[in-house]
Amino acid sequence: MSRELSLAEIFQMGYYWEAKILLTATKLDLFSALEGRAESASALAARLHLNERALSLLLHALVAMRILTKQNGKFFNTGVAQKHLAKTSSEYVGHLLILHDSEWKNWGQLEETLQTGISPVRQHVFETNPDMGANVLTVLDRIGRGSGVNLAKSLRLDGSEHVIDVGGGAGTNAIAFCREYPHLRATVFDLPQTLQVTERYIKEAGLEDRITLKPGNFNTDALGGPYDLAVMSDILHYQGHQTNAALVRKVFAHLKSNGRLVMKDRFLDPNRTSPAWTTAFTVHILVNTECGDCYTTQEAMDWMIQAGFESVTELEPRAIVQGMKPGAI
Ligand SMILES: C[S@@+](CC[C@H](N)C(=O)[O-])C[C@H]1O[C@@H](n2cnc3c(N)ncnc32)[C@H](O)[C@@H]1O
Repeated sequence: MSRELSLAEIFQMGYYWEAKILLTATKLDLFSALEGRAESASALAARLHLNERALSLLLHALVAMRILTKQNGKFFNTGVAQKHLAKTSSEYVGHLLILHDSEWKNWGQLEETLQTGISPVRQHVFETNPDMGANVLTVLDRIGRGSGVNLAKSLRLDGSEHVIDVGGGAGTNAIAFCREYPHLRATVFDLPQTLQVTERYIKEAGLEDRITLKPGNFNTDALGGPYDLAVMSDILHYQGHQTNAALVRKVFAHLKSNGRLVMKDRFLDPNRTSPAWTTAFTVHILVNTECGDCYTTQEAMDWMIQAGFESVTELEPRAIVQGMKPGAI
């Protein structure tokens, strides 16, 4: 049994102030403005056309939050701010925080959503704001590269010829898989606007001759194939239960006999109260997608079993499940 929360901890949870301070500073691109220089609040306010008093309060809070440093009345980036929050850095992740900032108004409608059950949005960000979606994909690609390589190694694809990444985003997995297995070809299926980013990454990787882009809506358009392996990574939580079950059935039909499906997502434990991050993420998904959700590992595996997959197993707890399409008799 974990210990009960203290009152101080309850209050701390209610203080969303630091989150909004960080998101607003990132949106205003303060960290790029302070790149390689130390500046006073008044100089920075003049340069960015902001109110000096208001900016000064925000900057001091960012120092207390250990994102900025202050010396001799001037503010400058800490190492972590310079590395991850200044736009010129190759390890910039601010686009993800800017997405969260843009979703602030949806969170503001949580109470109405709880009363009506109706989300404030009708479509997800990749549909409504392809430019922001593209920026977010660059961050997801950056933080997902390591896991793409690990997934490629763990799946042992020596006997596979052709893989499809359904909702493959920036091509992170397709690129990692093709680098790991020189004989492999890949198809990245995604919305046409997203594939503009994918094309850039595939060119940079020099894999244009082995990775094909297939534009479309994976719920309504044909996927091509048949394939030896289908990957569905971080797409299930944008959609409702029935839509996912139908997509898994559709993918089954586009696989070769003995082909397999690998699904990677943020899955919940059977009692739906852990992992803690995922339980909060479900509420985020509630107000930021029309009917998305996070699912238990068993629910994801049931979609596979009902579609006809065999040997359905959890490859990584609450993260990756796999099923095999039976061979021809
Ligand atoms: C969170 S990203 C995941 C990208 C990638 N699979 C990964 O794991 O990094 C979700 C992706 O699904 C794509 N997507 C969402 N709905 C789609 C649909 N109906 N048809 C095709 N692609 C879709 C988005 O464009 C985006 O690239």
